[in-house]
Amino acid sequence: MLPLRLIERKRDRGRIEPAEWRECIKAYVAGDVPDYQMAALLMAVFLNGMDAGETAALTDAMLASGSTLPPTADRRPRVDKHSTGGVGDKVSLVLAPLVASLGVAVPMMSGRALGHTGGTLDKLDAIPGFRADLTLRAAAAQLERLGCVLIGQTAEIAPADRLLYALRDATATVESIPLIAASIMSKKLAEGLTALVLDVTRGSGAFLPALEQGVELARTMVALGAAHDCPVVALLTAMDRPLGRACGNALETEEAIHALTGNGPADLMEVTYALGAEMLVLGGAARTHAEARPMMEEAIASGAAARLFQEIIEAQGGNPGVVDDPAVLPQAAEVELYLAPRSGVVARVEPRTIGRGITALGGGRTRVDDRIDPAVGFVIGVAPGAWVDAGEPLATIFARDSAGVDDGRAVLSRAIVIADHAEPALPLISHRVTANGVLEYAISPAPT
Ligand code: URA
Repeated sequence: MLPLRLIERKRDRGRIEPAEWRECIKAYVAGDVPDYQMAALLMAVFLNGMDAGETAALTDAMLASGSTLPPTADRRPRVDKHSTGGVGDKVSLVLAPLVASLGVAVPMMSGRALGHTGGTLDKLDAIPGFRADLTLRAAAAQLERLGCVLIGQTAEIAPADRLLYALRDATATVESIPLIAASIMSKKLAEGLTALVLDVTRGSGAFLPALEQGVELARTMVALGAAHDCPVVALLTAMDRPLGRACGNALETEEAIHALTGNGPADLMEVTYALGAEMLVLGGAARTHAEARPMMEEAIASGAAARLFQEIIEAQGGNPGVVDDPAVLPQAAEVELYLAPRSGVVARVEPRTIGRGITALGGGRTRVDDRIDPAVGFVIGVAPGAWVDAGEPLATIFARDSAGVDDGRAVLSRAIVIADHAEPALPLISHRVTANGVLEYAISPAPT
């Protein structure tokens, strides 16, 4: 197999056959295809797309690049959730221990920051000592013992996605339906799931902003799941503003801990409960979505979900004290308020600008090997539609130094748009996509 020939063919809008994808991915993971050729192939796919058969073949090739988490002895239902990417999206940190505390095993395999969006692994890395690079054996043992493990792609589990994810991030090849679908589904299927719930974001801060693109992505992943006997439910959620208030790794981990201890912002809790209800029903722990919601509220109110998060952190080498005292998370040297430059209505809080701003402050990567500063970021105190007076605090900037504070101020002056009139915002959850089709969520809430 000559990668050059595959690049030529994809460049010229041709098709790559399943056996060729298998060989190509295998050779890439073995180090026999250089990054520059794989980057060219990814760009050709990005530009010319792939049909459903090719997307399935790439997913299968990526899945076959590593091992699958073995079933646990108790055969507990195993359900995970994955997001297609957002800013301020710390749902996974809340949802995994929450759902696991209610009896459904959650083997959550996440990624690092991608493009302007944050990554669950980087948020977990902010916890002193935490290790997400467990061996397959250790991950399986923890899943058996605690019902939840929080890991990244490794050399054993989803190695192809580990490499391709980082390469796509550095080569502007993220925003592609077949590449996103193959990336997500290959690693999720490697978890040996009973079912999967997807949070497909849409709006200006999503990789694929348009509703039609989100629906197509959701349908693609639902079909890939069906081909592997893994039922998939996707909810389309708003990413035309950040989710919750905190944006930046340690800040988001802190907000997730607040959410687990009963003090999460309303939008974050709403999305968490909607996704959690899907997981609990798919995992057989609740009969209906209506039954699932109070179960989750009780797991938070009783402290059960937070206690499990503590146990998971401890099991993975992290400081469990972070749940009682989030101040053990890395702290920024400079913290400053950002004040409203004028009176008016908050027309927009642009997630993409915020996400890129975090990278500019040192909290994201522009190269595969960049080290990130977990402490930097923003806490946004206003949401679109709110009236603000000139001089009122709108956000807090967390930076390494005074130059970072200046950069942060410039970012916020572009991201938080104050105008005379409000602009329409997307519904927080708008559609539900399953193998049975697409339903409008607001009109017809998730069926039971
Ligand atoms: N999340 C992933 O795991 N992969 C993508 O390509 C995008 C979001």
